[in-house]
Amino acid sequence: MQRAAADLGRFITFEGGEGAGKSTQAGILANRLTRAGRKVLATREPGGSPAAEEIREALLFGRVRQLGPLAEAVLFSVARADHVEHSIGGALQQGMWVVCDRFLDSTRAYQGATAGVPKPLINALERLTLGGLLPDITFILDIPAEEGLARAAARAEGGAPDRFEGQELILHERVRRAFLDIAEEEPERCIVIDASQPEAMVAEDVWEAVLERLHP
Ligand code: TYD
Repeated sequence: MQRAAADLGRFITFEGGEGAGKSTQAGILANRLTRAGRKVLATREPGGSPAAEEIREALLFGRVRQLGPLAEAVLFSVARADHVEHSIGGALQQGMWVVCDRFLDSTRAYQGATAGVPKPLINALERLTLGGLLPDITFILDIPAEEGLARAAARAEGGAPDRFEGQELILHERVRRAFLDIAEEEPERCIVIDASQPEAMVAEDVWEAVLERLHP
């Protein structure tokens, strides 16, 4: 879906690894924008529309993993296309501010850079499913993998010990690197935020960038 010139809405996404605080920060920003008088759609991926929520179940809890990273990339992309068609696209056309927890950069980072789906395939999927739609701002919440995993473990009940396994740490370091590489490639769109700061300071950094770039 191409952004029409008449679209008045703004599109902001949050990306990052586990324990970076994306959901919290997306929620804080959505509230701030609402208080500033904007109409806001707060949404997340995978999911965000009824069909995409079903695909989410299959991706996160079903058997899709067995099909390998390319199949996962395709399904995340199909879910995203539906999310855009049935939710994000309409909201933007109505002039709403869309705040989305994860979007296309997660597919680039997890299925692409980390799981090894070649970049041309990821690019082709983006062209097919998004047709050039990109967020106005993408916040990359950056946190050392160890710190992020520790935070996530503190949140999860009883799941703590195995989250620190070496393999997982290496994987999270790779995801972190992948997001930082995306930010380097697209500095106009991506803003890296130090997510190891206290929550309120992260929120302040996010808000300042939104004020400066998008004038809500
Ligand atoms: P979720 O429960 O939303 O967790 P988080 O709080 O980390 O966002 O699970 C989303 C998981 O799906 C997360 O591990 C990242 C992964 N994912 C991909 O691998 N590719 C994608 O395109 C998206 C949107 C998510």
